Amino acid sequence: MKFDFSDLGELENYCEKNGYKIHFDPDTKILSSPLHINKREFNNRFCVHPMEGSDADENGAVTDLVTARYKKFAKGGSALIWFEAVSVVPEGRASANQLLINEENLDGFKKLIETIKEEGLSANGFEPVVIMQLTHSGRFSKPDGKPLPLIAYHHSELDKKHNIADDLECVTDEYIDTLPEKFAKAAALAQKAGFDGVDVKCCHRYLLHEFLSAFDRPGK
Ligand SMILES: Cc1cc2nc3c(=O)[nH]c(=O)nc-3n(C[C@H](O)[C@H](O)[C@H](O)COP(=O)(O)O)c2cc1C
Repeated sequence: MKFDFSDLGELENYCEKNGYKIHFDPDTKILSSPLHINKREFNNRFCVHPMEGSDADENGAVTDLVTARYKKFAKGGSALIWFEAVSVVPEGRASANQLLINEENLDGFKKLIETIKEEGLSANGFEPVVIMQLTHSGRFSKPDGKPLPLIAYHHSELDKKHNIADDLECVTDEYIDTLPEKFAKAAALAQKAGFDGVDVKCCHRYLLHEFLSAFDRPGK
């Protein structure tokens, strides 16, 4: 699939040639019009996707680099900033510099949200809505920079691809049972910090995603 279209005409031609029946409206006003979802007001239809920056400190706290990135996103003017994956437990971090939210580093997240909202307001006249993505990296966990996979089940293709030993123990039901409370606690902390909501990450083969296909996993 080609992704480098220089104008709408090129994209329309591509679709027509390939039999994709898509209507394109040359009027893009809709993108700058507001949207209401329940009680939330979104100033426009743009969203910054969640993107892990791997620039937290070694304990997962917000750094100047994290703040600088989000200040730029806020200045960019998207109504919605879908904040990157933030781990709910230290062992579930995808890198030694992934963000982690806990009581100890909550102030950093509070200041960051203040900065994002202030920057949005002063640059664009509105505060962006900011959603935190909560995650446990499961088989991709590298809390100290080295792989320490936590898997729900053995996957023939992914185990091979990521050098997961056949005899690696899967996470126990007891361990899994501790996680809902940890996600809930992280969500409550995100709310305290001033985030407008959270998303529980169940994609990209991270731990919760694995449960969507863990048919052969023994136990409950
Ligand atoms: C560096 C990088 C980090 C990403 N981190 C996350 C993440 O934390 N959470 C998530 O759901 N997706 C993440 N993604 C996926 C993006 O949000 C996005 O959906 C994906 O890159 C496809 O959009 P694109 O074609 O514009 O790149 C990441 C992508 C990149 C390139």
